[in-house]
Amino acid sequence: MCGIVGYVGPQPALEVVVDGLARLEYRGYDSAGIAVLTDGRLATEKRAGKLANLRAALEHNPRTADGIGIGHTRWATHGAPTDTNAHPHVDNDNRVAVIHNGIIENFASLRLELEERGCKFTSETDTEVAAHLLAEELKQQDGDLAAAMRSVCRRLEGAFTLVAMFANDPELVVAARRNSPLVVGRGQGENFLASDVAAFIAHTRDAIELGQDQVVELRADSVTITDYDGRPVKVREYHVDWDASAAEKGGYEYFMLKEIVEQPQAVADTLLGRVAVDGTLTLDEMRLAPSELRDIEKIVIIACGTSYHAGLIAKYAIEHWCRVPCEVEVASEFRYRDPILNRQTLVIAISQSGESMDTLMAVRYAREQRARVLAICNVNGSTIPRESDGVLYTHAGPEVGVAATKTFLTQLVACYLVGLYLAQVRTVKFGDEINAVIEQLANMPEQVKKVLSTVDPVRELARSLGEADTVLFLGRHVGYPVALEGALKLKELAYMHAEAFAAGELKHGPIALIENGLPVVVVVPSREGRGVLHDKIVSNIQEIRARGARTIVIAEEGDETVRPFADELIEIPAVPTLLQPIVSTVPLQVFACELALAKGNDVDQPRNLAKSVTVE
Ligand code: G6P
Repeated sequence: MCGIVGYVGPQPALEVVVDGLARLEYRGYDSAGIAVLTDGRLATEKRAGKLANLRAALEHNPRTADGIGIGHTRWATHGAPTDTNAHPHVDNDNRVAVIHNGIIENFASLRLELEERGCKFTSETDTEVAAHLLAEELKQQDGDLAAAMRSVCRRLEGAFTLVAMFANDPELVVAARRNSPLVVGRGQGENFLASDVAAFIAHTRDAIELGQDQVVELRADSVTITDYDGRPVKVREYHVDWDASAAEKGGYEYFMLKEIVEQPQAVADTLLGRVAVDGTLTLDEMRLAPSELRDIEKIVIIACGTSYHAGLIAKYAIEHWCRVPCEVEVASEFRYRDPILNRQTLVIAISQSGESMDTLMAVRYAREQRARVLAICNVNGSTIPRESDGVLYTHAGPEVGVAATKTFLTQLVACYLVGLYLAQVRTVKFGDEINAVIEQLANMPEQVKKVLSTVDPVRELARSLGEADTVLFLGRHVGYPVALEGALKLKELAYMHAEAFAAGELKHGPIALIENGLPVVVVVPSREGRGVLHDKIVSNIQEIRARGARTIVIAEEGDETVRPFADELIEIPAVPTLLQPIVSTVPLQVFACELALAKGNDVDQPRNLAKSVTVE
């Protein structure tokens, strides 16, 4: 998830673009760059780090801009956040500049092909292939940038918004999109392009949303939109009535609300580019050779907070698929108990930020003990992946709300991918079995969308519980960590006493807490494959209901067996047992968020918490 800006018009293009980037910095802030035309020549400036670094570089090296400019604020996926990997990327003659949001899945084969034809690459990004392809196509298409863009897009796979300018055509910016956002802002004698309206709302509120697989040609007094074959298309024009700060949040009052809604996309993006043409899983930047992974005798997962809950769920999947023993531990406890580690231990460190000090210290300790360390992380180039042997990045984009939501779902996806990859290299599962799970995973964005479209009653329920002192959560199997996550969200956001138990443990103590009217949320496992567990939890629901609990039951749609015992029933789509946390967590996020809002709390910045805790 990156921020993209394009401008054509009479205002100083550089200022318009950099101001637009400042409004989009929430979409990515690990590097930023611009391209403008100065006296007909392409000039780029790009810097790792926040936009302030780019501004300082531009102050140091001021330049005038003719009427067009493009700019980018990056959230790295391919290649670390360095000056060189920052966008824009240019062709070898420095005539075409390109910025990109998304992931070009077939970039590796395209790069190889271009290198064979003599192209010199300067970055590690997937984006740079688009710059070189455009330069080649421009030659074929007599310098027609829009035609070249259409032709290049037909060859790309994956998700992308691409914006390009060409030094030979100083009044034109061209952009295209597939599976990534792009809006046009229509001004008087000037036009804008951006990832979202926040970038241009100070100039115009008239917008056009580009559809899937469309290309736009932007000039100061015209906007032409076609499909990839050059045919004109129908577009949606609309008027934005948000103010600038609401625009950054996509019209939502809080980033957290927006991030919950972004989950289907985040899950889909994390799955992108992981399967090779021959159907095998390929994990970029894994850096651990199959032979090393075959040597592994034990896996230890370390993490904190929500990431720890992702680890607990991973254990079920990894042990089931790979038949390797897997332990999960909170990072802050790990190194103080003298854990038994050796070269045959794979330590998986899960951290959204890649900076949590507890997890980092545990990683360092594990490496001292010669264990191999794999990081699962959302922030490209952060400390934990840098200090690990290998990494699997989640592609959730930046998460601004302190409480993890979309990054948790993508951590689950990453954990499943690691489990399947281990099963593949250790040949404990057949390729078609692995492919079947990958297909189920590919279906999850749709399932999450479905949950999101049915959560209104959960909001209503949450608002009715504003006065409750305590909420308990119960689960079994993968539903137990989901219950833990539900309770953590409620503590973090609503500052309420909330506790989660493994439903089977209830009778060994916690059942004494049950009293009349106490809300208890129960996550019911799928019936498929785990029928025994399902029946046992139905008995647990009856036990607490008999003692007066108000039962709030999360169960698969069509699960009639729980209905008679549920005071409130929250239905989720039926999905395979091990993948159920991807859908069952979502209503719990919404529940906690809404309850906290009903109490008047700031859900983006809950009291006493920080997004990334860099002290032990
Ligand atoms: C902080 C945050 C939590 C997060 C935890 C781990 O405590 O408030 O939301 O789950 O850190 O963060 P990490 O970046 O390592 O996943």
